[in-house]
Amino acid sequence: MAAIAWYALGIRILGRTAVEVTRDQHAGFLAKSVAHTLASEGHRISDIIDPFVGSGNLLYHLLRATKATRGCGFDINADIIALTERNFSRLRLLRKLRHARLTFLRRDWSQSPSCIENRATLVIVCPPWGDAFDEAGLDLRKTKPPVPDVLQTLRGRMTSGPIFALIQTHPSMVTESVDAIKQDYTALPTIKSGDPAIFERIDYIFLRL
Ligand SMILES: C[S@@+](CC[C@H](N)C(=O)[O-])C[C@H]1O[C@@H](n2cnc3c(N)ncnc32)[C@H](O)[C@@H]1O
Repeated sequence: MAAIAWYALGIRILGRTAVEVTRDQHAGFLAKSVAHTLASEGHRISDIIDPFVGSGNLLYHLLRATKATRGCGFDINADIIALTERNFSRLRLLRKLRHARLTFLRRDWSQSPSCIENRATLVIVCPPWGDAFDEAGLDLRKTKPPVPDVLQTLRGRMTSGPIFALIQTHPSMVTESVDAIKQDYTALPTIKSGDPAIFERIDYIFLRL
């Protein structure tokens, strides 16, 4: 949607969220890529959990691309979670995402595993980067919280359904931080965009935990 369309619908986002959001072009690419890989590996996702939901834009694109029927977003910031919940209810007025049951909770990310049920689940791992990104690239061990801590907490949740994790990254990475994660989990194939507006700005890691 163009900004003028969503603004007229009553959708609002905080300035801070406008900076942190996974933008449409990027979120669309990530969502289609992950949906494609899941389908080609024979998996169908029922639930999507976003422990750092922010605007929910990445969650929105993934719910559409995977046709998951349940979405659960967490954010520590009360203003952000209230606006995001409100925005999604406005989107439903346009009959968007009618296929999905949605919950938004103002809670710390560490409580998000309690939302994982015995079904195939995709978790979006997109914590604030803080000081993790500098001239050396993005160091996943320095995000707030560190990505390895998030993955370990998620893996501790014992369920009968597979848990997948999408980690949004940057083309410039501290390779040791990526290698450490790929050693500990099963990395699934990823797709490279041919569009410089995408491949020069974002990348991702896709794992089965
Ligand atoms: C990089 S943004 C997520 C952007 C999101 N993918 C989007 O499309 O808008 C990170 C979010 O994590 C939230 N956050 C920071 N610390 C958190 C914590 N301890 N638990 C849960 N959420 C947290 C922030 O308030 C922020 O909204």
